[in-house]
Amino acid sequence: MTDHLTHLADAEQRTFAPSDAFRAQAIADEGIYREADADRLGFWADRARDLHWHRDFTEVLDWQPPHARWFADGQLNVAYNCLDRHVEAGLGDRVALHWEGEPGDQRTITYAELTDEVKRLANVLRAHGVGDGDRVAIYLPMLPEAVAAMLACARIGAIHSVVFGGFSASNLRMRIDDAKATFVITADGTWRKGKVFPLKPVVDDALREPGHDVSGVLVVRRGENEVEWFEGRDRWYHEAMAEVEADHEAQGFDAEHPLFILYTSGSTGKPKGILHTSGGYLTQAAFTHRTVFDLHPETDVYWCTADVGWITGHSYVVYGPLANGATQVLYEGTMDTPGPERPWELIERYGVTIFYTAPTAIRTFMKLGRQHVQSSDLSSLRVLGTVGEPINPEAWMWYREVVGSNLTPIVDTWWQTETGAMMIAPLPGVTALKPGSAQVPLPGIAIDVVDDAGTPVTDGSGGLLVVTEPWPSMLRTIWGDDDRYRETYWEKFGDRYFAGDGARKDDDGDIWLLGRVDDVMNVSGHRLSTAEIESSLVAHESTAEAAVVGASDETTGQAVVAFVILKARFADAQSVEESEATLREHVGTDIGKIARPRQVFIVPDLPKTRSGKIMRRLLRDLAEGRDLGDTTTLADQGVVEAIRSQLR
Ligand code: WTA
Repeated sequence: MTDHLTHLADAEQRTFAPSDAFRAQAIADEGIYREADADRLGFWADRARDLHWHRDFTEVLDWQPPHARWFADGQLNVAYNCLDRHVEAGLGDRVALHWEGEPGDQRTITYAELTDEVKRLANVLRAHGVGDGDRVAIYLPMLPEAVAAMLACARIGAIHSVVFGGFSASNLRMRIDDAKATFVITADGTWRKGKVFPLKPVVDDALREPGHDVSGVLVVRRGENEVEWFEGRDRWYHEAMAEVEADHEAQGFDAEHPLFILYTSGSTGKPKGILHTSGGYLTQAAFTHRTVFDLHPETDVYWCTADVGWITGHSYVVYGPLANGATQVLYEGTMDTPGPERPWELIERYGVTIFYTAPTAIRTFMKLGRQHVQSSDLSSLRVLGTVGEPINPEAWMWYREVVGSNLTPIVDTWWQTETGAMMIAPLPGVTALKPGSAQVPLPGIAIDVVDDAGTPVTDGSGGLLVVTEPWPSMLRTIWGDDDRYRETYWEKFGDRYFAGDGARKDDDGDIWLLGRVDDVMNVSGHRLSTAEIESSLVAHESTAEAAVVGASDETTGQAVVAFVILKARFADAQSVEESEATLREHVGTDIGKIARPRQVFIVPDLPKTRSGKIMRRLLRDLAEGRDLGDTTTLADQGVVEAIRSQLR
C-alpha cells in the first residue's frame, strides 16, 4: 500500500485554489495560521472561550509528558454547550436533526426539542442510579435517541462507551467488562438493508453470563421486533421518559472530567479504551468542525455519514456540530438501500450543503456509475469532506467532478480516535487543494514527519507521522491501562506522539498519509487488528494456526485475508471450501461482520523465519498476487510454493 501511495503522492501535480466567491464568504483566512503561530496556547484559550464555562479557567495547559491537562481549573457542562446554550440564545426553533429512517420515515427535531429530550433522559438515568463518573454502554443505531443518550450521560457527568451496533455479543461484553459499565442503552432493533436487524438480543447474550455490573437496560422501541424481557432489569425508553420531570439543570464539571471511552483496535488482540475528557475535547471538536467545513450555522445543512459507534460519529455527528448549533441530517440505514441513489436523494431532499464521508463510500459509488448520483439535484453542496483512510487522487477527482459539480472544495481530514478531532486538513477558503493529500496541520496543531531515529525528514521524503506538541482533544490515557498508553504512543519518540501512520512530505512540505505502519488494518475506514482476528480464528476448534494480513483492495482500501492451518482431523473431514466458509462466518459472529475476512486460505504451512516469526510481508505479497521479494530468510523454501498452489 505504502509504495503505491508514495508513487501517487510524487506524481500528483494538480492544485485547486479556492474560488474568489468562496474565499469572500469563508469564515477563516490565512490570518488564522499567523494567529496560532504567534501564540499557540492563547489561540486555544480563545477557541475554548467560544464555549460556555460554568467557571472560567485561568490555566491553559499543564503538560507533564505524556499527560496533558487543558483548561483544568475551568468547569463546563458539555451537554449545556450543545443544547441549552442555543435555546437560551433564541435558537430553540432551529432544526438540530433531520432524521430519516431507512424505510423512509422522517422526524424533524429542533434544538428546543432535543434539549427537552436530553433533560428527561438525564432524569431517567439519575432515577436508575446512574451518576457522576459511572460508565454507561450505548449500543444504539443511528437514531435521535443515540444522540440524546450520549448527551444525557455528558449532562450528568456519566462516562459513555458507545459500542458500534455491528459488533457481536462477546465484543460488547468485553467492552462492558473493561469499562465496568453499570447501565446499557439499546434498541429492540433497527432497519438495515431493508430488514429489521435485532439489537436487544445481542445485549441479552452479552449479559447472559454473570460477572458484570449491569443493573439496568433501557430499550428504545424502533424495530418492533419481538424481544425477551428481563423484569427488574429492562425498561422501555418511552415508558421511563413519560415518568420523569421534564426539567433538569446542568451543573458544571471540571474540564478534565471524563466524557467518554471509545474502544479501538490496537496492534495486540485486546481493544484499547481511549479516554477523552470534556473541555479540551469539545473545544477542538467544535473549532475544527466550524473551520474545516466553513460552517455557517444559520444556513448550512450538514451531513456526516459516520455511525455514532465510531469516533467520527462522536466528534462530527454529536459534539462538534451540536456545539456549533448546526442543522444536520441523521440517517438510520445503509447507503444502498433501497438502491444506490439513496444518499444523493437525501442530499437533494434536505438541501445538504456540507457532506462528510469515507473514501470507501466514494469508491463504491464510483464503481456503480455516475448516473445514480446525477439523477439527484446536488447543487446545494458547497463543501465536501473525507475521513478514515487515504483517498486516491482518482476517487478525489470523481468526488469533485460528479458530486461537487466540479467546483466544490474537498477537505481530506486526517485524525484518529486518539486525537479526538481533526489534526491535518486543508481550510477550504485558504488552501490550494491537492487531490489525495490532507496537506497541512490545522492552526494550533504541531505535526512532523520523522525517520526511525526521530529526526525530521526533509521535503520530498517519507517517514513516520508525529505530533510534536500536546493538543486540546488528545486522548488522556487508555482506560485502566496507563502503561499501555505510554508504550503505544510515547515510548518511541519521548514527548512526541507516535500516531502509527506512515507519511510523506512533498516538495512543498504538504503531508501525504500513507497508511498504518503497525499491525492495524484499515478496512473501509474501520480499524481492525490482525492479532484480534487471528485470536478469533485460533479460538475456533478446527484451527491449528492462523495469520491475518491486510491486503490492498480497490474498494475497501484494505481487506482482511487469513491464512489458516487446520487441525488434521478437520482437514480430513471437511472440504476446503466448507472450512473456509465456516471460518469466515465464525469471525463474523465472534467479532462482527466488518471483521469477516474477504478470503480465508486453508494452507498446509505458514512461512516463518528461522526464529519462528511469521513473515507477514510474504503473505501480503501472496494475497495481493505480487512477485515475492527476498525469501532467503525463510526457514523452509517449499512453504511458499505449497501456499501458492492453494490460492485461486
Ligand atoms: C487512517 C478515524 C489517510 C489513519 C477518524 C489513522 C487516514 C486511522 C485519514 C485512524 C486520512 C484517518 N487520510 N488516513 N484523511 N483519516 N486515517 O481511529 O491510518 O478510526 O491512523 O479514526 O485512520 O482511524 P480511526
